[in-house]
Amino acid sequence: MTVVPTVTLKSGEKIPVIGLGTWLSKPGEVAQALKIALKNGYRHIDCAHAYMNQDEIGQVLEEVIAQGSVKREELFITSKIWNTFHSYEKAKEGVDIILQQLKLKYIDLLLIHWPMGYQEGGEIFPRTADGNHMHYSDADYLDTWKALEEAVQAGKVKTIGLSNFNSQQIQRVIDHSHIQPAMLQIESHPYFQQTKLINFCKEKGIEVTAYSPLGNMATPFRKEGQANLLEDPVILEIAKHHNKSPAQVIIHWSIQRGVIVIPKSTSEHRLKENFDVFDFELSKDEMAKMAGIDRNWRILDLTARDGDHPHFPFNIEF
Ligand code: A2P
Repeated sequence: MTVVPTVTLKSGEKIPVIGLGTWLSKPGEVAQALKIALKNGYRHIDCAHAYMNQDEIGQVLEEVIAQGSVKREELFITSKIWNTFHSYEKAKEGVDIILQQLKLKYIDLLLIHWPMGYQEGGEIFPRTADGNHMHYSDADYLDTWKALEEAVQAGKVKTIGLSNFNSQQIQRVIDHSHIQPAMLQIESHPYFQQTKLINFCKEKGIEVTAYSPLGNMATPFRKEGQANLLEDPVILEIAKHHNKSPAQVIIHWSIQRGVIVIPKSTSEHRLKENFDVFDFELSKDEMAKMAGIDRNWRILDLTARDGDHPHFPFNIEF
C-alpha cells in the first residue's frame, strides 16, 4: 500500500500531501468512494459542512475506526466552517455540528471556508428571490477565527486555517490572531497556478492545499466548451514521456512545487491512479514547461454571485 509523504504544519501536526476531495461527491456515492480510498491507503480526507455529505462520511469513519481497520490517529480529517456560521456564537455551533456529522471527537484541520458571511439561521445557501445572489451577513471573519481558536483550546480541533482568502485578508487574520493560520486552501491547477499567493503563504509559514487540482471537469461553475486540463498538449507530452496519465502528472507537479492536493474521485480505478504518483520526477525543464501553461483562469469565479460582498476575496490580484 502506498504511504504518502507528509508535511508538518505550524501546529506540529502532519498532513499527507494527497487527500481525498469530497466536494460534489454525491450522498450514496461518497461512502463507497471513501471506503475504497481508505482501503488503498488514503488517510487525508477533505470535507466541508457545505458539501452536504458529512453525515455519510461520518458513518464510514465511525465504522472503520470501530472495526480497527484504521486508527483515528492515522487519519487526517479536514472540514470547513460555512458562510452562514461566521458570527462568534454561530461559529462555535458550527464546530459542534461538524463534529457531530463526522462522528469525531476532534477534527485535524478546520478552515474558514470563505471570507464572506451569509445570512445566518436559515438555509445554507440563503438565495435572494431571483436566485442569483445570497443574502449576506456583516459578520467579520475575525470573530469566526476567535471561535476557531477557542475550539483548539477546547481540544475540538488540532489545527486551524483559511480557504479562499486573499493575501490582505490572510495578513489581517495573522495580525489579529493568537493562533496563526497554518493552512490556506485555494483553487490551484496548471491553468490557475496562483504562484504569487502561494509564495506569500510560504513566506508566512502557511502551507497550501490545492482544490480542483485537475481542473474540476464536473463542477456546475464550468461553462460549456471550456478547456480540459487533462487534454493539454504540454501535459500530454510529459505524461507520455513518463508513461503516466495526465492526472498523475498534474498531481505530481503540484506536490513537487510544494502544494498539497485533494483530487476528487468516486471511481476505484481513478482513486488508485491518483495515488500512484511517487515513482517519477519532473525535470527542471518539465517544471518550466508546466509553469508556462498558466492561464490565470479561475474556474470557481463567484464574482457574479458574491462580487459585491465587502469581504469578497477575488477583487485584488492575489
Ligand atoms: P470521477 O469522480 O468520476 O473520478 P478535481 O479534483 O479537480 O475537482 O476533479 C475532479 C473531477 O475529475 C471529477 O469529475 C473526477 O471524476 C475526475 N477525475 C478524478 N480523477 C481523475 C483521473 N485520474 N483522470 C480523469 N478524471 C479524473
